[in-house]
Amino acid sequence: MIQVLQVSKSFKNKDQEVKVLNDISFNVGKGEIISILGESGCGKSTLLNIIGGFEQTTSGEVLLDGTKVNVPSQKCIMLFQNYGLLPWRSVLKNVELGLEKTISNAKLRTEKAMHYIDLVGLKGKEDMFPHELSGGMQQRVGIARALAIQPELILMDEPFAALDTFNRYHLQNELLRIQSQEKTTMILVTHDIDEAIYLSDRIFIMHPNPGRIHKEIKIELTKPRDRSDGDFQYYRNIIFKEFHFNRPETLLEFNI
Ligand SMILES: Nc1ncnc2c1ncn2[C@@H]1O[C@H](COP(=O)(O)OP(=O)(O)OP(=O)(O)O)[C@@H](O)[C@H]1O
Ligand SMILES: [Mg+2]
Repeated sequence: MIQVLQVSKSFKNKDQEVKVLNDISFNVGKGEIISILGESGCGKSTLLNIIGGFEQTTSGEVLLDGTKVNVPSQKCIMLFQNYGLLPWRSVLKNVELGLEKTISNAKLRTEKAMHYIDLVGLKGKEDMFPHELSGGMQQRVGIARALAIQPELILMDEPFAALDTFNRYHLQNELLRIQSQEKTTMILVTHDIDEAIYLSDRIFIMHPNPGRIHKEIKIELTKPRDRSDGDFQYYRNIIFKEFHFNRPETLLEFNI
């Protein structure tokens, strides 16, 4: 469904050209969930922006269903970390936002919006305003709004980073449940290794300077997954090793 073909990206900083992405290629199939993991500044958001058509490549191209991506497409929606809700609109009106162009009948639009509000567990909250909701609820409104458009592809840039662990786990489950119903393709940028293992079919580990895909890890666990399971630990270990997190000798010199 998505083909990323030899994508490179450079930015001009003052007079210097800085290469941020180097020769990135991968395919994503319909209904797959992909996570991109990597340290800060390695180019994850830039890559996501290119896939979404918000940013142009320096060389290489991205194809969505065989068509070159140059501008943001109706088929694809980006879910930002700051939710992007309109504060003067109620939950219902926020979710209806993306439907206003496509559904002119107000009753049908409301019905559809309500279906997705229900799906993310916010039934009864449709007349509330964003400032009256918790961060997790606001994020759910953002997810409902994205899903209501029924995009083929959802791009998420650290969507749960601002949430506490309970809310995050809860929303991860909702997302999986909805995704299994709607078969939406998802590409997720995250710093959270557990989140990547819990949600993804494949994880791409990026290395920096210039940003490139260092490794692809296929998560061969059936969903829903158990975070305390031994197999889960197995993948956690593999990824920790990649980032050199489980090397106690680095702490030995401090007597820790
Ligand atoms: N518009 C821009 N102009 C110049 N440099 C940019 C621009 N956007 C990003 N960069 C640079 O590209 C590099 C990658 O940025 P990017 O935002 O993609 O990183 P990231 O992996 O998403 O980081 P984080 O995890 O902190 O969000 C950084 O060094 C950043 O300074
Ligand atoms: Mg980023």
